Amino acid sequence: MSDSTASSFVVVANRLPVDRITTPGSDGDTWRRSPGGLVTALHPVLQAEAGTWIGWAGGEGPAPSPFTLDGMRLSPVPLDADELRNYYEGFSNATLWPLYHDAVEQPAFHRHWWKSYEQVNARFAERAAAEAAPNALVWVQDYQLQLVPAMLRRLRPDLRIGFFLHIPFPPTELFMQLPRRLDILRGLLGADVVGFQSPGAAQNFLRLTRQLLGLKPRAHIVEAEDGRPVRAESYPISIDTASVEQIAASDVVANRAKELRAELGDPKTIILGVDRLDYTKGIEQRLKAFRELLSNGELSVPDTVMVQVATPSRERIEHYRALRRTVEREVGRINGDFGRVGIPAVHYLHQSYSREELAALYLIADVMTVTPLRDGMNLVAKEYVASRLNNDGALVLSEFAGAAADLKQAFQVNPHDLDALKSVLVAAVRSPLDEQRRRMRAMRRYLRGHDVKHWARGFLTALGAPETATAYDSDNIRETST
Ligand code: ADP
Ligand code: G6P
Repeated sequence: MSDSTASSFVVVANRLPVDRITTPGSDGDTWRRSPGGLVTALHPVLQAEAGTWIGWAGGEGPAPSPFTLDGMRLSPVPLDADELRNYYEGFSNATLWPLYHDAVEQPAFHRHWWKSYEQVNARFAERAAAEAAPNALVWVQDYQLQLVPAMLRRLRPDLRIGFFLHIPFPPTELFMQLPRRLDILRGLLGADVVGFQSPGAAQNFLRLTRQLLGLKPRAHIVEAEDGRPVRAESYPISIDTASVEQIAASDVVANRAKELRAELGDPKTIILGVDRLDYTKGIEQRLKAFRELLSNGELSVPDTVMVQVATPSRERIEHYRALRRTVEREVGRINGDFGRVGIPAVHYLHQSYSREELAALYLIADVMTVTPLRDGMNLVAKEYVASRLNNDGALVLSEFAGAAADLKQAFQVNPHDLDALKSVLVAAVRSPLDEQRRRMRAMRRYLRGHDVKHWARGFLTALGAPETATAYDSDNIRETST
């Protein structure tokens, strides 16, 4: 890496903010926004810092050369077909993803997946070492790259290294199942600051450093095996509130919202769900609750319709294929039982959309359902709230989403309790306008003060100016399911 391209601020994430789309027969690449909350959150941050983003460009085989996009330098890392299967689909998304989400699906462990995880983490660390200027800040993201902090520190001890986990960090009894648990902990401890979505997650991590490595965490600081202080704390992530509001306020979006509402037959109540098609999101439970409410007559078509956007995700992994089959069967069943000619009860959309189209959907949603069984944060819930410029609408929100700690005025629910889910859905549908406004105003105010810039500032301040350990009673670390 020549000095002219070395960057003083580097983000390392499994994915770049854009995916390369190669169409057979056409020359040249086209690029599409990558899925998921990590990209939504980090894109405006990195753009403002004009830094370098290291990540995979999607697909398999050689990576494109580094290039510039929206003022950011993008440095693509290649994954070959085996790595895609073993590092990405295997250890990242069939071991860590389910394990860290309360094992809502059974995590699988295979030794060759681990080898690939190590190998790809080493590649990301080497790329970061090559891209970072002397004394740069390097911010490593998420569960796919937990070994990078320690690997990078060995290569470049001059750097300040941060790590942020976008998903939950599990309670100790689940983490203990991981065959390579010590390597993961030591990998994370290579950072100067390890950030989590919730205080409970940070506590789980600190407690594990004591249980597994015999370290002595004090308050938010633990001294790593090499004697460095490592800060572990919660920094709940958020959205670019002003930009979401601006999109929702545009004429294009307002017109599209009118069109969409008319296309849906102008029902009294539109219930919306927007999720990656992932088994953590509670889509099946939500559909089941809706079906039972149609069945017992508490809700009826065409007065009420549901729109479920299920963004394609990790489509080769068996748990995801099985989920798709179940969800599509359930949608078919509901429409068969309760739809009318030209008026389905559930509009099911298995596609990616522009931010404008999603904003138009948020604008027409009288009730937004965000009911994950477990979720690190959930930015869709925050985007919905920020889009409700008239302060009306009702958000039904799972207690098990990190967002529940921030959006306290939502209609909160335990999605595992089907009866509760049904009654909260009905309460949200029937909620009077003044109640909706009271709740929504408070949540919108919160999101204006706690946007993604606030999140980044909090983390980066800690990374730039670490504090030393303060007096602390280590027995006070509570174990929490995050
Ligand atoms: P996760 O990170 O698990 O996917 P989040 O709710 O935190 O969940 O973030 C999802 C992000 O992806 C949001 O910014 C949302 O707007 C975006 N998104 C979700 N579905 C779609 C879709 N079908 N097309 C485009 N963007 C989507
Ligand atoms: C979540 C994860 C991200 C991931 C995104 C999309 O938001 O926290 O790390 O990028 O889902 O998943 P994918 O596997 O498509 O990158």
